[in-house]
Amino acid sequence: MCGIVGYVGNRDVVEVLLKGLTNLEYRGYDSAGMALQDCGEVKIYKTLGKLINLKNELEAKKSELNHPTSGIGHIRWATHGSPSLINAHPHTCSCGRLVVVHNGIIENYKELREELIKKGCTFRSQTDTETIAHLVADEYAKAKDLEIAVRNSVKKLQGAYAICVMHKDVPDVIVGARKHAPMLVGIGENENFIASDTPAIIEYTKKTIYLDDNETAVVTKNSVKVTDKDGNIVEKKIEILPWEPMALSKLGYKHFMLKEIHEQPDVIRNVLNGKLYDIDSPINLSEVKLDKEILKKLNKIQIIACGTSLHAALAGKYIIEDFAGISVEVEASSEYIYRKTTTDASTLVIGVSQSGETADTITAIKQAKEKNAHVLIITNRPDSNMARLADSLIPVNAGIEVSVAATKSYTAQLISFYLLAINLAEIKGTLDKNYLKDIKHELIQLPTKIEEVLSNTSAIQECARKFSSYKNFIYIARGINLATALEGALKLKEISYINATGYAAGELKHGPIAMLDETMPVLSILVPGGITYEKVLSNSEEAKARNAKLIALTSSKDTNIDNLFDVVLRIPQVMEILSPAVTCVPLQLLAYYIAEFLGKDVDQPRNLAKSVTVE
Ligand code: M6R
Repeated sequence: MCGIVGYVGNRDVVEVLLKGLTNLEYRGYDSAGMALQDCGEVKIYKTLGKLINLKNELEAKKSELNHPTSGIGHIRWATHGSPSLINAHPHTCSCGRLVVVHNGIIENYKELREELIKKGCTFRSQTDTETIAHLVADEYAKAKDLEIAVRNSVKKLQGAYAICVMHKDVPDVIVGARKHAPMLVGIGENENFIASDTPAIIEYTKKTIYLDDNETAVVTKNSVKVTDKDGNIVEKKIEILPWEPMALSKLGYKHFMLKEIHEQPDVIRNVLNGKLYDIDSPINLSEVKLDKEILKKLNKIQIIACGTSLHAALAGKYIIEDFAGISVEVEASSEYIYRKTTTDASTLVIGVSQSGETADTITAIKQAKEKNAHVLIITNRPDSNMARLADSLIPVNAGIEVSVAATKSYTAQLISFYLLAINLAEIKGTLDKNYLKDIKHELIQLPTKIEEVLSNTSAIQECARKFSSYKNFIYIARGINLATALEGALKLKEISYINATGYAAGELKHGPIAMLDETMPVLSILVPGGITYEKVLSNSEEAKARNAKLIALTSSKDTNIDNLFDVVLRIPQVMEILSPAVTCVPLQLLAYYIAEFLGKDVDQPRNLAKSVTVE
């Protein structure tokens, strides 16, 4: 979604802003722009499409620029008004002296717009953001102080915003403000930054101040002043960012997605580190801040999440119910927030989110907190808004994930669920001691098994080549790998735009089977060892009888299945309950290679965003 970066200092401002925006572009966007303070003037540049267009535009107009000393940049993911030059940020007031960039949605923009038009403002775009520019300009005309003007203006805004404002008459000052959208200030030596997310500034500084809702920051080259909604100074803590700039490099891989898929064995080792020492010691999960006696009696868990995180949540349900015998409900955050839920003070509510900024999940978490539930957050961003709302926080430590399609954050979430479920089982005493040891042993082995999958991807690539021209796919599984089927299908949809749907294999005959013929390949996930294997095999036979082409993803060594399936993708043997951490990997790769064959923009699929900060 949208991204903001601002800079005041001695470096090449254009370069800093372009670099910052480049590091945010994985979030998804359709246009880009920047405003530069240059020798008493504010100059604006905007382009449609990728950042390279903005870079080329700036290169072509280089001679217009003297020596910019500050600026604000933005990438836009259209919400109000189509992706067009006129709707791209920055937006200006009627006279063009004041510029603003904005992330979020202003819900009362129509009313404000009407009032401002009556006052004589000339609107040029269809955006909600332009309203902010006119509003702040109106307040500035009264207050003659940009900080006060911004503070007074945001009091009139309803909705979510992170904004940066500059004014021609106030050189080298950026005023930022936020509510329900992230914003941070990066502290440098004789230079300062402001941004909507850490990757925008990580190449220059690790010292950061996170703004809270209703705060305003005035950023100059040598100072940062943060105030609350009444203008009182707020003493903010400087935090040190946990990321390395290296995380934003592809390290020789063609795409971030491929790099991130290959990082998964180490990601799992990282998640287990310090929590699972050996098969004889209990799991150390001090992150769960609930008293042991409360956990012993815990009998209701609700997990809320969206997209891929929702699939991790579904796997989490199977794992927790299997290991700890606690009843678990799983729900999409966007559904949870618009109905009467049974959440109460005795419920443990788990929010799962890669980004920690997903608006639907944040709203759901806030609702759960209002009902006095204990909220545990599983996220890859311990610096996120969601993490700040947590009563207990399990940071999944997957490292920054740049590709829009989630891969390593998914496996890290799965592993967090295994640790949590084992922790609960150990407290409640619900698992047989030997079974518990087997599970821990297998968990420790998972990275090696995934390495085995990653060391030879030729069969997956061949399968991708063979099936890349099909327009529809069905993925089936039973038990815990239903989550894998849903996630595998989502990965294919997201990056190749091929219609793929995951089903519980037993549901096939209740409707979807009607669609089967030679144009609809069926991918079956078959993990022997439990009760699901034979059943999925029969469901695959049923698909074969309707002429569907069949792909098997299996750890079975039985060569007879090679006669039933057109393609068999083999993975190492793994306990069924732990298998989603392995089965998801070939499906990520299959989606990746199909998208690659089709020449799609793998890391930044159309219409998608890495952090979905609107409801
Ligand atoms: O950051 P979150 O995990 O809360 O995001 C939820 C979904 O938007 C996200 O998982 C989305 O489905 C990804 N594009 C999946 O690849």
